[in-house]
Amino acid sequence: MIIKKKAKKTPAVVVDSSKCIGCGLCVKDCVGSCLEIADGKAVFQETRCIGCGHCYAICPQKAIDMPGLDTEGCDDYVPMTDFDSDKLLTAMKSRRTIRQFQDRPVEQEKIDKIIEAGRFCQTAANHQNIAYTILGSKQDEFEAECVKVFRTAVQAGGKFVKAYDGFEIPDDFFFKGAPLVIVVSGSNSNKGLATSYMELMADSLGLGVLISGFAETVIAMNPKVKRMLDLPKKHKVLSVMVIGYPAVEYQRIAPRKQANVRVL
Ligand SMILES: Cc1cc2nc3c(=O)[nH]c(=O)nc-3n(C[C@H](O)[C@H](O)[C@H](O)COP(=O)(O)O)c2cc1C
Repeated sequence: MIIKKKAKKTPAVVVDSSKCIGCGLCVKDCVGSCLEIADGKAVFQETRCIGCGHCYAICPQKAIDMPGLDTEGCDDYVPMTDFDSDKLLTAMKSRRTIRQFQDRPVEQEKIDKIIEAGRFCQTAANHQNIAYTILGSKQDEFEAECVKVFRTAVQAGGKFVKAYDGFEIPDDFFFKGAPLVIVVSGSNSNKGLATSYMELMADSLGLGVLISGFAETVIAMNPKVKRMLDLPKKHKVLSVMVIGYPAVEYQRIAPRKQANVRVL
């Protein structure tokens, strides 16, 4: 009988004991209590590790490696305090939803940067189970199907489309002629976060973003439309990001209601 040896799983965290000085910073910051100090060195136990990388990020000796992860660029650390908070806040307030786009493609490097921003967003339990589906060559066909479904829904007088009763739905109703559409999908617990990171990155690259709630609704109500996306198993659409160079400029910040702040 041939007994197959069970393949040894690569541990999520590897401590280089020749570099470790036993400072305990990784132990203290580990959310799953997966590290302890034994004989003056950090020792890792996989049990509850969620692969968050806090131990990797905090170690003053660079004694920790995470062999299963892409660590390229991780030494380029920039704290948020490097940014002027007043300028950052004003820039965030100045962000606008863009609904008019130039007929100009988005460069691949910019698409990569937008996705990179989403990739480094926090996720519940660090699952990182987010996918970025670029509609690419299917964009026009996808929009045409969404328009067809939406027109039918409006004619049928559904509740959510009430406001569009009598409104002519143009062929570019969903994507407004933008050259790039990214469907962000994953589990609902992460709704919105990656999208916000991506939108801020897109804005800083001179692009504009429309988050299409209408497209999201059509995808949710029509299985054929959802199938066209060929999403990973169990994925829900978190947002549909319509991206391109803005064909509009704003002169000032759009006003808002006062914040509803409550202290209990
Ligand atoms: C989840 C979500 C869904 C949205 N869906 C649409 C949409 O389908 N069509 C649209 O024109 N704008 C959509 N918007 C944009 C909002 O209308 C917009 O954020 C709001 O009017 C405020 O404008 P501002 O983004 O420029 O501050 C959506 C925004 C969010 C956050």
